Amino acid sequence: MRTDQDQPVRLADYQPPSWLVETVDLDVALHPTETRVRAKLRLKPNPAAPAAPLALDGDGLTLRSIKLNGAPLAAENYAATPDRLSIAQPPRRPFVLELETVVDPTANTALSGLYRAGDTYCTQCEAEGFRRITYFPDRPDVMAVYTTRIEAEKSEAPVLLANGNLTEAGDVAGTTRHYAVWRDPFPKPSYLFALVGGVLGHVADEFVTMSGRKVALRIYVEPGRESRADFAMDALKRAMRWDEEAFGREYDLNIFMIVAVSAFNMGAMENKGLNIFNDKYVLASPETATDEDYANIDGIIAHEYFHNWTGNRITCRDWFQLCLKEGLTVFRDQEYTADQRSRPVERISDVRALRAHQFVEDAGPLAHPVRPEVYREINNFYTPTVYEKGAEIVRMLKVLLGADGFRKGMDLYFARHDGQAATVEQFIACFAKATDRDLAQFMRWYRQAGTPEVAVTLSHDAKAATCTLEIAQMLPATPGQPVKEPQVIPLALGLVAPDGRDLPLRRADGRAVERGVLVLTRPAETFVFTNVPQRPVASLNRGFSAPIRLTANLNADDLRFLAAHDSDAFNRWQALQTLAVTLLIDNVKALRAGQPMRQDAGFLSALGAIVADTALEPAFVARALTLPTEADVARELGRDVDPDAIFAARNALRTAVGDALGPALRDIYRRLSVSAPYSPDAESAGRRNLKNVALDLLAASSGSAAIAIAARQYASADNMTDRMAAIATLSLHPVRERQAAIDDFYRRYQVDPLVIDKWFALQAAIPEAATLDRVKELTRHPAFSLGNPNRVRSLVGAFAMMNQTQFNRADGAGYAFLTDTVLALDGRNPQVASRMMTAFKSWRALEPGRRGKAEAELRRVAAAPSLSTDVRDIVERSLADT
Ligand code: PHE
Ligand code: ZN
Repeated sequence: MRTDQDQPVRLADYQPPSWLVETVDLDVALHPTETRVRAKLRLKPNPAAPAAPLALDGDGLTLRSIKLNGAPLAAENYAATPDRLSIAQPPRRPFVLELETVVDPTANTALSGLYRAGDTYCTQCEAEGFRRITYFPDRPDVMAVYTTRIEAEKSEAPVLLANGNLTEAGDVAGTTRHYAVWRDPFPKPSYLFALVGGVLGHVADEFVTMSGRKVALRIYVEPGRESRADFAMDALKRAMRWDEEAFGREYDLNIFMIVAVSAFNMGAMENKGLNIFNDKYVLASPETATDEDYANIDGIIAHEYFHNWTGNRITCRDWFQLCLKEGLTVFRDQEYTADQRSRPVERISDVRALRAHQFVEDAGPLAHPVRPEVYREINNFYTPTVYEKGAEIVRMLKVLLGADGFRKGMDLYFARHDGQAATVEQFIACFAKATDRDLAQFMRWYRQAGTPEVAVTLSHDAKAATCTLEIAQMLPATPGQPVKEPQVIPLALGLVAPDGRDLPLRRADGRAVERGVLVLTRPAETFVFTNVPQRPVASLNRGFSAPIRLTANLNADDLRFLAAHDSDAFNRWQALQTLAVTLLIDNVKALRAGQPMRQDAGFLSALGAIVADTALEPAFVARALTLPTEADVARELGRDVDPDAIFAARNALRTAVGDALGPALRDIYRRLSVSAPYSPDAESAGRRNLKNVALDLLAASSGSAAIAIAARQYASADNMTDRMAAIATLSLHPVRERQAAIDDFYRRYQVDPLVIDKWFALQAAIPEAATLDRVKELTRHPAFSLGNPNRVRSLVGAFAMMNQTQFNRADGAGYAFLTDTVLALDGRNPQVASRMMTAFKSWRALEPGRRGKAEAELRRVAAAPSLSTDVRDIVERSLADT
């Protein structure tokens, strides 16, 4: 752990490492409280850096012995503290350093370094966990070849795994112990090191690569859970094939392993050849996992697998370059999902998530560039900005360069940088080189925080048959960046004629509109199109070609027209969202002014037309019927946010939709209530989603009849998706059926922690005043534990992040509960504590009463006598003035 006294780390201060490590030989004797770690490092001076003393990172380590070139090192020749090992005058040539440290995996509640998930020994080394195992130059530009010997009691850890290929295994003669030796021939940074030991079951399969090599596949899970790993295995094989087909990338070791563990700070980790997963993203059965769970597993298995090339073979030079692997790999997993499922539906989901998390982050005190220039705690930069906005930047490259140009750039990147620790500049240089373009201005996307605001004004000249778009871009100030420069914005567009067809785009200046994309580069510019006899409707930022906030002079009729006719499915959805958000914002303002809310018959009929359009895929219709969330409305309001008014306006709209579309929704529900056996495929999931959205809207309007249907669906469902959807609908209504279902759910699933997480989250999200007390009570439930991140996220996280009205209670009690929890958790698990603290990221946008309460809680945390760097960093940035 970094300490409070540590200085911030700056990109501008980067220096190459003075010492390189060629090989690491680890010998780890697992023990619950005293695991002995021997590390033999073959060090050599870096020819590209000035000579310097040797300084290795540590974190809470105890050094037991140290040898240099085989001889014990005298005490005056080195200095060891828990977080540093230095040798002032090391040899000026390659040498071997042998270290012995002892660590206590059972006491490791931070879940970084070597720890125990239940009884299983496992490691988590990204970003700086390896230094909690042994002293090491723990930075990603030091890449070494690792050999790992693990030894353990056979009864305690019959399964012993590490990165690479197994080279040797056997019993330790004369003892009850055994060992295994793994060798990873690919040089890698320490953050990709992993080992696992425990009592584990597994499923096995095989993959034949494009060049005909056989790769053994293994997924390790808690014994008895093997069948729940079948879907993950299927996803893995599809991901491996896709990376060959879409990017020409083949897997490189003889074996690829995934281990599911019950306690994990994040989603999963791409350790070379040995991915370690939060079990939530591996285990699935129709009875215990929802369609959403299946989709998450598919995407995350793919994401971690794709890191093998984007992250592992080519890694990051330093942690400022985190988006180099994360943004690119998110882009790759999104493309995989789009190919496996439905491209427009995937894009809608990705953009919803981007707006819900990244746009909000970018508009508040925690805003930072996709490539930050300074950090106090790197763990706080695994953010929606680095991941999701990072992926959007890669997507824009593809839009700008076209599919072929993009692929050429990627190929060059793999060819040039394989085996290296690279930078964002090097990545972008490959695209510039491969397509012969100047991408200097494009680099601003990495350096400037904030979401660009683009305003478009369309005018039409009937006499000249021209159509003019005046487009202005503005990037708002963000912390530390008061002044901004214009960015390169690829704006995909169409001009839709009154008959619904796209007009050919002919620019008056004769320049072509390549692939239908206008490339904005200046604060304001004008584009004139010719041969436009009638006023068209502009369909702008099609497919969400750039991550911007767009305003245009489109009226409600134009938006309804686009909802019905746009050839771009994303913009059909977007038009409906814009209509709904506009209505909701008007009504929130009316409510706050004590005036009546308005109805929008036009919006309702536009939705009705979507529902009646049988050519549309059910998953798309379901997305169209899903109204903007309370958080969406809060974000669009941007200031003086009153969550109660938003809730009331949104509820009224849900009722209005249910009323207006009642017969159609009932028809959908009937038509899609099939009794075919459950299958997690995207089409079936889309039908279930539509059916359940219809039920939820019916319950919002007609009350008891729909409640009875939901209660019946809850009781008779043969899969978790339908059961969960039914109970979620019930949970929004204070009816007797609700409590019965909640009690029944616990009885059914109490042996299954991942399902009990759904039970926690469901109750935490109930938008009623009694919820806070219920959540507090549930923190004392035997199934809850502050020691398990999944439990914390599903109860406390769901309350703080999903329940807008109750977290933001006017009396501030929701905020106080969150800060109490954070303070209780911080000493145990700073990473999860600081994650929870980000629930305050929009506090400045609240109406004054709540803003004052939130600020008081933030100050209470800031004043706590001892805080982790993680939480301190989040709190101080949240409170900072600029
Ligand atoms: N690198 C992981 C991923 O995105 C995320 C992670 C970060 C996991 C830090 C653990 C710790 O795939
Ligand atoms: Zn990742």
